[in-house]
Amino acid sequence: MTGVVTPTARVRDPLRPVTYSLPTTIVFGRDVLSRLPDITRDTGVKYPLVVTDRGLAATDIPARVADTLRAADIRFELFAEVESDPSTDLVDRIGTLLVQNAHDGVIGLGGGSAMDAAKAAAAVATNGVKAAELTGPDKVREDPLPVIAIPTTAGPGSEVTKFAVLTDHAAGAKLSIASMAIMPQWAILDPALTVGLPPKFTLATGLDALCHAIESYGSAWNNPISEGMALQAINLIGANLRTAYHFPGNLEARAGMLAASCIAELAANTTRLGLGHALGVPMGATHSVPHGLAVGMMLPPMCRFNAEAEPHRYERVATALDPTADDLDAALGALYRDIEMDCRLSQFGVTPADFDRIIDLAVRSDNVLANPREADRDDLAALLAQAL
Ligand SMILES: NC(=O)c1ccc[n+]([C@@H]2O[C@H](COP(=O)([O-])OP(=O)(O)OC[C@H]3O[C@@H](n4cnc5c(N)ncnc54)[C@H](O)[C@@H]3O)[C@@H](O)[C@H]2O)c1
Ligand SMILES: [Fe+2]
Repeated sequence: MTGVVTPTARVRDPLRPVTYSLPTTIVFGRDVLSRLPDITRDTGVKYPLVVTDRGLAATDIPARVADTLRAADIRFELFAEVESDPSTDLVDRIGTLLVQNAHDGVIGLGGGSAMDAAKAAAAVATNGVKAAELTGPDKVREDPLPVIAIPTTAGPGSEVTKFAVLTDHAAGAKLSIASMAIMPQWAILDPALTVGLPPKFTLATGLDALCHAIESYGSAWNNPISEGMALQAINLIGANLRTAYHFPGNLEARAGMLAASCIAELAANTTRLGLGHALGVPMGATHSVPHGLAVGMMLPPMCRFNAEAEPHRYERVATALDPTADDLDAALGALYRDIEMDCRLSQFGVTPADFDRIIDLAVRSDNVLANPREADRDDLAALLAQAL
């Protein structure tokens, strides 16, 4: 007899042991960048390297940070050559610079790329190995140099994660250092630093944060602490992403988004993510799809797939995103329309012939295991096909 089989969700263990540890002190709000000198001194850092990216070097942000340090007589150097999706080679270069100049701390200033490069280089400098040797779970043996993270996108939330995502060009893959040792000591969240972010990056980074929150809430490995934070992050993004996109100077919307990106990763740091990131991350390496757009394209298909197994959970996500909604597909559709998110994978040169390679990389990720519904290779191909 043939019939429609109702998909089932993985069984969640409400008593799954979890360690919730936050070694990062977060300062958030108006003008908190002015606290950088005190924070640097309190951390015992006397000669930091400020690590930032090429795009930011064209804005006044590095100069504002430099002026703040100079006014407090803190000696520092600036490294402004991080590229998007930083490579292991670049991180090795920064690690060597840290050792040669005898820096005693790192200030990671920028989006996920600059913060990840800073976190990884701080570990390379003290562990005396190449960045590639630190990728994978718990490979960091020696404490890294102290890191102060200052996000300028909202965002990857790297300021509060144990991950640094690096690109290995030789392997054509993205690899992560995953270790609580690389959590920054401080996260300085000053929303004014994000007002100059162009709308296309507001969109991409905002969707990244939304994916973190929804995937964490859906995760088979979630816990009561992470669930509350994930819902609050979804709520903040529903309330603020449209305004941040259309009115970049609106500081309250920027603050809401910066808080959301941080809170989403506070949740995801203990839960892992889901199929959106499992499939989206590899496409950063295989087709140079910007991270936020890649995961943003995979989010609606993934939610439809997971909601078939766990409808009530995704109704709660819909209501968090839009209090008047109970259909997540419709709520996401309305948000994407309002922020003009209409990217397709084909625009980045992805074709069905690439699916196998992307899926080979995706199945290596524990984000597949954390996803609330089991997915085989055919399921993953079907999700990619929906985003073509
Ligand atoms: N470590 C983690 O936990 C984690 C989580 C998610 C994503 N990531 C990684 O983070 C990276 C993506 O980070 P991202 O999305 O923030 O992008 P990004 O850091 O590559 O920055 C994107 C662009 O925005 C520009 N920019 C940043 N802030 C700006 C500002 N205030 N004004 C003007 N321009 C600004 C940058 O110069 C760059 O050109 C990827 O490598 C991804 O894999 C890491
Ligand atoms: Fe992400």
